[in-house]
Amino acid sequence: MKRQRPVSLVVHGGAWNIPDDEADAHRRGVLNALKAGWDLLRDGGTAVEAVERSINVMENDETFNAGRGSVLNAAGEIELDASIMEGKGLRAGGVAAVQNIANPISVARVIMEKSDIVLLVGLGATRFAKEHGIATCGQDALITGREISRWREAQASGTATPVSRKKAPGRSAPGGTVGAVALDADGTIASGTSTGGTPNKHQGRVGDSSLIGCGTYADNEIGGVSSTGGGEAIIRVVMAKSVIDMMRSNGDDPEQAAKDAIALLKKRTGGEGGVIVLNASGGVGTAFNTPRMARAFITSSIKGPIAAV
Ligand code: GLY
Repeated sequence: MKRQRPVSLVVHGGAWNIPDDEADAHRRGVLNALKAGWDLLRDGGTAVEAVERSINVMENDETFNAGRGSVLNAAGEIELDASIMEGKGLRAGGVAAVQNIANPISVARVIMEKSDIVLLVGLGATRFAKEHGIATCGQDALITGREISRWREAQASGTATPVSRKKAPGRSAPGGTVGAVALDADGTIASGTSTGGTPNKHQGRVGDSSLIGCGTYADNEIGGVSSTGGGEAIIRVVMAKSVIDMMRSNGDDPEQAAKDAIALLKKRTGGEGGVIVLNASGGVGTAFNTPRMARAFITSSIKGPIAAV
C-alpha cells in the first residue's frame, strides 16, 4: 500500500494579554480557521491555498487584529500588513500599510504568484490589488465599534500619541495578529501572517508581519514560521528566519527552536511575542512569552485538532 505523505497545519490568532471574556471567541476563531485550511489540505489542496484560506477566515473574524476588526492608527484609520511565502522556490509576497483591502493576505499571494515583486506598500499595493481584480472597500467596512471606542479612549486620556518603539503588544496593548503554517502532501511548506499592527501606530508604520524573515518564513528543506507580538523587537532579531536557522542546527526540533527564538527575543530586545513553527516532516512547535497566545494545530498523525488560548 502507498504510504501517505504527512500533512500538517498550525494557526495563531495573536500573542498578547487576551482578556478572559475574549478567550472563547479566540479559541473558536482559531479552530474555525484551522478547519477551513484543513478541509483544503485533506482534499489535496496546496499549502499556499490552506494558509490563505485559514488567514482569510481570521481576517474576516473581527475577534482578531487583522482585516475587519483591526486596530486604528493615530489618524483613526486602518493600515494593514501581510506576507506569505512558499518554501519550494522560496517565493514570497507582501503588502505594508495597505488601505481599503479586506483580505491583505490574498493580495500578498497575488504579488507572490503574479509578479516579480516581493513587497508593495500603501497606495501602490491597493492599486496592484485593483489591477488584479481584488475588490477594495471603504474604511467603514473594516472599522468596528470596539476599535472606535478604544481609539476614542486613547484620544480622551491624552495617550493618543503614536505607539513608541518600546511599547510592544504584550501585557498592555491589544494584539491579535493572525498567522498560519502548512505542509502539503507534495512536501511544500507555506507560511503567512496578517495584521492591523499596533494600536495608535504612526501613519505609515510597518511591523514584522509584512517582512519576509521577520513575520513569515518558509523553506521546504527546514520548515515554516509565523510570528506575532511586538513588531519592532521581532524585526530586530529577524525572528522567523532565526527559528529556521535554529532548527537547521538543532536536529529539526520545532518546539526547541520556537522556545529558543522567544528566549532570544526577550534577551536581546526585551520584546514580547510568540511563534508557530512546522519542521519539514510536519512536526509542530509553538512558544510565547506573553500571558496568552491563541493557537491551534492538526496533523495527519493525530485524531483531531488541538487548540489553546
Ligand atoms: N506583530 C505585529 C506588529 O507589530 O505589527
